[in-house]
Amino acid sequence: MKVLLINGSPNEKGCTFTALSEVATQLNKNGIETTIFHIGKKPIGGCLACCGCYKNNGFCVHGDKDVVNECAKLMREADGIIVGSPVYYAGPNGQITSLLDRIFFGGSPYLYNKPAAAVVSARRGGASATYDRLLKYFMKTNMPIVTSQYWNSVHGMTPDDVRKDIEGLQTMRTLANNMAWLLKCIDHAKGVIPLPEVEPLTPTNFIH
Ligand SMILES: Cc1cc2nc3c(=O)[nH]c(=O)nc-3n(C[C@H](O)[C@H](O)[C@H](O)COP(=O)(O)O)c2cc1C
Repeated sequence: MKVLLINGSPNEKGCTFTALSEVATQLNKNGIETTIFHIGKKPIGGCLACCGCYKNNGFCVHGDKDVVNECAKLMREADGIIVGSPVYYAGPNGQITSLLDRIFFGGSPYLYNKPAAAVVSARRGGASATYDRLLKYFMKTNMPIVTSQYWNSVHGMTPDDVRKDIEGLQTMRTLANNMAWLLKCIDHAKGVIPLPEVEPLTPTNFIH
């Protein structure tokens, strides 16, 4: 079983990475493989609403220009997903929301039933608003959300600050234990308890 941890910060080894590393180490202690995927510093354009992904097996038709489809493929291969983001103006940073918009718009059905979690890093404020925003992707994708003893956040401007955030790191380890437990439950149920039925979507536009 493997968990993909996505570092949505432009800082490859920054605060978000430090939080994700704490989760990964604890997952490893629980016998779960991990990969930390850094989305990089190159621009990631937003969704162009062309709906090309609907005819491209859920992959973005512009995805060869950046890391979007590479990340989408890794997400499909993983048993569990954890998205990490720094807090920018009380929300996730632009790069990670561009990436997730383009992965989830057409690719959601390929992610159904995968346990997922979000982790955020803030200097001071906006952590829970950022956390809420990231969970929105999973909430409408039939993905069980894994939680911890607190909203998943750490505080710091530097990795050293984060390492001093004892409660934040404990929250990360608890998240990892909970993720490992759920993955093992799901694995144990394979062939015994079928996946939930998915009805064909009946889209209605707000009032009709
Ligand atoms: C453009 C920008 C906006 C930011 N906005 C906030 C904010 O609203 N609240 C906050 O606490 N920190 C804010 N920060 C600080 C970072 O969220 C914080 O230092 C984070 O831990 C950095 O994580 P990283 O090292 O993984 O990039 C901002 C940083 C940048 C560059």
